[in-house]
Amino acid sequence: MVERREFIRKSVLWGSYALGAMAIGYPVFSFIGFRKITEYSVIFPPDAQHARANLREGVYLIPEANGFRALSGKCPHLGCTVNFDPVSEQFKCPCHGSTFGPSGTWLSGPAGRNLHPLPVKSKPNGDIEIVVKI
Ligand code: FES
Repeated sequence: MVERREFIRKSVLWGSYALGAMAIGYPVFSFIGFRKITEYSVIFPPDAQHARANLREGVYLIPEANGFRALSGKCPHLGCTVNFDPVSEQFKCPCHGSTFGPSGTWLSGPAGRNLHPLPVKSKPNGDIEIVVKI
């Protein structure tokens, strides 16, 4: 017969093991198996394709000599939305001051990486579609 004190001791011990396993297992499984990738499209109609850098739903569309470039407007440091400064032709992060060139190249600040490029698709009706995967 298990004594009451022994029962409580074993319950606390096994409860601790279970909590420890969950604390380790949850992040591992959520990273490996249950990672949800969400995808959405941002459409730039013809009248929204002429600005130097047009921001829609977190995506910048930048006209270039031979087409368009699309960049994520999310700063690679901590995710603030960068602003385009037409005077200096740079993207500037309002949070910690990182700066990026007109093609998204990192220039200065704590971000340390370029703005994320996104694929550009031209549609037959003249719209431009950018597919964003989160
Ligand atoms: Fe942009 Fe920190 S979030 S520099």
